[in-house]
Amino acid sequence: MSKNIIFVFSGTGNSLWVAKEIAKELENCEIVSMGLDWQGPLPAGYDSIGFVYPTYASGVPKRIKDFIAKLDLQNNKEAYYFAIATCGRVSKAQNVITQIRRYLKQKGIHLHYGERLDMFSNYVVGYEMRETVLEEAQQSAIDIKPMIEAIKN
Ligand SMILES: Cc1cc2nc3c(=O)[nH]c(=O)nc-3n(C[C@H](O)[C@H](O)[C@H](O)COP(=O)(O)O)c2cc1C
Repeated sequence: MSKNIIFVFSGTGNSLWVAKEIAKELENCEIVSMGLDWQGPLPAGYDSIGFVYPTYASGVPKRIKDFIAKLDLQNNKEAYYFAIATCGRVSKAQNVITQIRRYLKQKGIHLHYGERLDMFSNYVVGYEMRETVLEEAQQSAIDIKPMIEAIKN
């Protein structure tokens, strides 16, 4: 049986939903919060290792950068690595995959697949929730499908 893990960070649930959707399709997949401090090296034997997180200020949240810097992946250098950054259609968020690819590369890890998934924005300190939230959520549920297929394949 394969062994998979998804590290997730989620302020309001979008990224957690994405992690759960992917985990449903991968057998034997645990979901671990990047809000917690990880202790020690990740044990060997993972087939795939994923990171799912929101976009902040067009990039990777600092919490994720710090988490990855401390995460010891040396036992799993040959695993399949993927990242999905959820974003709120606020900015083009161009950096959000480029950055995590670089953070992993600095640890000698290759990111095999990285994508942004447009979702509804939760940046409510900046503006009200958009009235199109329901339609946007329905579209995200469609847009995620080819990403899951790509990761599975
Ligand atoms: C502090 C903050 C900054 C954000 N910055 C961006 C941004 O630059 N571009 C964007 O498209 N969405 C931005 N968003 C929206 C979130 O990335 C988006 O809604 C995401 O799906 C939320 O995921 P979560 O529910 O897992 O936290 C921001 C949200 C917050 C709270």
